[in-house]
Amino acid sequence: MYYKKLLFAVMALTFGAISAQQRIPEVEALLQKMTLEEKIGQLNLLTPGGGVATGEVVSKNVEAKIKAGEVGGLFGVAGPDKVRVAQELAVKKSRLGIPLLIGSDVIHGYKTTYPIPLGLASSWDMDLVQQAAQMAAKEATADGINWNFSPMVDIARDPRWGRIAEGAGEDPYLGSRIAEASIKGYQGDDLAAAHTMLACVKHFALYGAAEAGRDYHSVDMSKIKMFNQYLPPYKAAVDAGVASVMSSFNDVDGIPATGNKWLLTDLLRDKWGFNGFVVSDYTSLNEMIPHGLGDLQAVSALALNAGLDMDMVGEGFLTTLKKSLEEGKVTEEAITNACRRILEAKYISGLFEDPYRYLDSKRPAKDILTKENRALARTLAAHSFVLLKNENNILPLQKNKKIALVGPLADSRNNMLGTWAPTGDVSLAVTILEGFKNVAPNATIQYAKGANISDDEEFAKHVNVFGPRIEIDERSPEVMVDEAVELAKNADVVVAVVGEATEMTGEAASRTDISIPESQKILIRALVATGKPVALVLMSGRPLTIPDELGLPVAILQVWHPGVEAGNAIADVVFGDYNPSGKLTVTWPRNVGQIPIYYSAKNTGRPAPENDEFQKFRSNYLDSPNSPLLPFGYGLSYTNFEYSNLKLDKASIGQGESISATVTVTNTGNYDGEEVVQLYLRDVVRSITPPKRELKGFRKILLKKGESKEVTITLSPDDLKFYNSQLDFVAEPGEFVVFVGTNSDAQLSKSFVLN
Ligand code: NOJ
Repeated sequence: MYYKKLLFAVMALTFGAISAQQRIPEVEALLQKMTLEEKIGQLNLLTPGGGVATGEVVSKNVEAKIKAGEVGGLFGVAGPDKVRVAQELAVKKSRLGIPLLIGSDVIHGYKTTYPIPLGLASSWDMDLVQQAAQMAAKEATADGINWNFSPMVDIARDPRWGRIAEGAGEDPYLGSRIAEASIKGYQGDDLAAAHTMLACVKHFALYGAAEAGRDYHSVDMSKIKMFNQYLPPYKAAVDAGVASVMSSFNDVDGIPATGNKWLLTDLLRDKWGFNGFVVSDYTSLNEMIPHGLGDLQAVSALALNAGLDMDMVGEGFLTTLKKSLEEGKVTEEAITNACRRILEAKYISGLFEDPYRYLDSKRPAKDILTKENRALARTLAAHSFVLLKNENNILPLQKNKKIALVGPLADSRNNMLGTWAPTGDVSLAVTILEGFKNVAPNATIQYAKGANISDDEEFAKHVNVFGPRIEIDERSPEVMVDEAVELAKNADVVVAVVGEATEMTGEAASRTDISIPESQKILIRALVATGKPVALVLMSGRPLTIPDELGLPVAILQVWHPGVEAGNAIADVVFGDYNPSGKLTVTWPRNVGQIPIYYSAKNTGRPAPENDEFQKFRSNYLDSPNSPLLPFGYGLSYTNFEYSNLKLDKASIGQGESISATVTVTNTGNYDGEEVVQLYLRDVVRSITPPKRELKGFRKILLKKGESKEVTITLSPDDLKFYNSQLDFVAEPGEFVVFVGTNSDAQLSKSFVLN
């Protein structure tokens, strides 16, 4: 009986809605018993501290508040035994015994840390994305966590913004597919199962468009841009049945997201049919005070009336809603509705049936950091790497060479996990030096640091908030470079591991200069000057401006921050056990002056020549080409792929019809390899200015050396649609051009007509 009801509720949530008629009787009965204070208590999310802080403030008197029924959930607590203590307080000591939600930021793996999201996205492999999320859910739930503050689906087109590392990049289509795959992985098809968890899509909305790439900064954009470019991944998450939504720090159309009724109710609930609960970001409710929206009571009432259900850390709801109710500023119905949504989530997680469902103390040893999980992390990392350049086929290396392995990140355990790994353990990370020795035991490997990540002590202090990431050596920069150059001269080949420390990206880690720090540039130049073949392994959480390095006769393998298996995965690719197949999911600019730069920009009325030649009175720069350094979708392989024979199955279609493009892809090089076949669409004439092209499909295929395959990608009727000036989602008749190829510069094209 219970199971049937639960299944029904799970199905309802999975398909995006628990309507008034489908209310859960147990939850309704419980609501009847609750006092006003107890209802308000459910809206309160606290973090007791003690673990790794993910914000400035931590909560006080948590135990007493749980007993008093003043807490709906906790985060920052982990481990079945610790969580049990908190859960028992709620279940045994509070009047109604309502269990707690236990949240966590499981952003790129729980204990088995895998690549940062921007890296994982670069795999363009939705099956791997789903497997990664599944593994994270299994590990986190083994540790008592039942709610994940992930996926982060903010479209980001400004690499100065440090949080670009946490998302899937610049594209709404790819971002939507990744959102769906992650939610499937976290939530599975039964949220009450012991290895699945509630997902939380964030940060709703537009957080990635912070002005000037400065974190927490204002956002201002047209509705047309919102609907066509920035909102699709959040909507895809809702359509995929995400259980919760986190509001963002920024304002949307002048009202902070946390208090924005248009966003949280009119759009999210009324238009998109979302029926889960909405949680604020960390004190984002209180932050509406400095935003300029009033005092704590005013902004708390604003947030509740806007549709916010749960207040993270700030306790604005807890301390002011009763007064606001007495003063008629909020209704009891609004409080009850918010409370209901949180209780429904608890019910669907199976917590009412068994509050200790996720608290099996045997599970951590069985499910966390297993051999299989580490093997998957290694695969995920290898698939996330993007080969940016391979002069003279320097890569892959043979396993019996004399290698000078140099650079400040070559033997730096502290910088392998990536920016959002508060649950990871840096001491478990495999360094590149270790990975090389594991994978190529017959190679002669000599190591030198060669340079500091940065020589700037003030900068290092800003970066080192969570521990030593940039360690400034006692030796002078000259001595370090000389040592590396000596090794290089005596080696067959040089591998230099350079780039960013982990906390040079992530939250509150914006940069105005996104080049490789000067200390490392000097090292790179000195190594290249030896005349030895040089492969750069480039680590970063964002695109970097590397026109100088890209111009050198080197190989460059972009590895992001790869996670706990970093060194092994890098060695797998460097020594050719895995042929790199990653593709950039964000455009790499030549210089910060080009930002924002993204492939789906519009043509303008005065387009510059395609060949980057400067022309007066055209939309271009005096001092820089328009084209990026590296386009969206770009990535090389150790082999080569040729595209030919693009065909469409129809010359014209009617509204509501699909059309398929077929292309032949041939592996013409010397290695087996995977390729991401990409399809872009141009809507030639629209009632609003169209982007030059937009990604509308992709397939990742494996081709043996010499093999050819026909690849078909079908465009659905929705793929031809966009939001027009009335914000209606329509396809307008006329000509469309399909481009298929290896990146967003794909030139093979065919046209069709929509009647
Ligand atoms: C603030 C971040 O913006 C958000 O992504 C995260 O989930 C919360 N802190 C909780 O740690």
